[in-house]
Amino acid sequence: MSAVESYSQKTGDIAPALLRHYDRHARTLPWRAMPGEAAPDPYRVWLSEIMLQQTTVAAVAPYFERFTARWPDVAALAATDDAELMAAWAGLGYYARARNLLACARAVVADHNGQFPSDEAALRSLPGVGAYTAAAIAAIAFGKRAVVVDANVERVVARLFAITTPLPTARAAIRDACDQITPATRSGDFAQAMMDLGATICTPRNPACLTCPLAIHCQANRLGIAETLPVKPAKTAKPARTGTAYWIENDGKVWLIKRPGKGMLGGMRALPDDNWAAGRDGDSQPPIAADWRTLNEAVSHVFTHFTLTLSVALTSSPVHPRALGEGEYWPVKSLDSAGLPTLFSKAAKLAISANR
Ligand code: ADE
Repeated sequence: MSAVESYSQKTGDIAPALLRHYDRHARTLPWRAMPGEAAPDPYRVWLSEIMLQQTTVAAVAPYFERFTARWPDVAALAATDDAELMAAWAGLGYYARARNLLACARAVVADHNGQFPSDEAALRSLPGVGAYTAAAIAAIAFGKRAVVVDANVERVVARLFAITTPLPTARAAIRDACDQITPATRSGDFAQAMMDLGATICTPRNPACLTCPLAIHCQANRLGIAETLPVKPAKTAKPARTGTAYWIENDGKVWLIKRPGKGMLGGMRALPDDNWAAGRDGDSQPPIAADWRTLNEAVSHVFTHFTLTLSVALTSSPVHPRALGEGEYWPVKSLDSAGLPTLFSKAAKLAISANR
């Protein structure tokens, strides 16, 4: 190529250029088959794709290693009990994913003979598997041509085609454009190459257009507007909620409850609280009358649709489990193994240091 590469957007050139780059620069990831290797086990592809939703590669990697060591195949995962799985997921967030994970594993065993189906429509009918995940599994694990669009791909495509319509309206055009450039073969590698490009070069801020293998095909680069795309919808302020968590400690043990099935953090072990939710503040009513001391410091936590400031109230009045309803006293020393979600492990840390 000449020293000065000029703009040329032939959409048919994009996939080959990207795949050449991927063959040399693919990130080594625990769930990934490197270019030229056999496709990875669909179970591992599915598990990694669920874990990677709204969660970074760095956060997912240790969970993925632990899960696959403990549950090496979908049948092993399907046979585990709910509490064990929820505890293993603790800290990864978006807990509905964990409940769906188990439902999906059980559906694969019960309805598909323990084998993941290979076509997108059948994959989409599984619990927790949406359009993105179905396309990713079909392409990456089964080598099928599928149009795989996650947030990274969305950004890369919006820039390649200079799609300036704001999200979410732009999604249909982005998908069409991605369909145009998805190759008939190696569409799994292509999808992962797009994700890698979005994560490492075509980043939300300060994209590294100078080192981008697609720069000469990129309309946003040509127009000097790459960093402004995709255009995000106007942000609505997140409501700021307040609530209280209650730390009831007797004999070195703290009272934990199991949160009800489907709501926020559903099915997870937790400290009792005052019924805060996305749509309301907590009512400041402790689970029992006792001598409560509220700590000056509180815990802040950001959920998808609201922020929460959680106060922590402590009592060491002797409280019999019978007075508390369902739950269990858990040794404070081994609280790590209770699998508390991050919000409550932050509250626990405050309580423990206040009690020291
Ligand atoms: N993000 C989601 N899925 C991914 C994958 N397969 N490779 C890299 N990043 C990802």
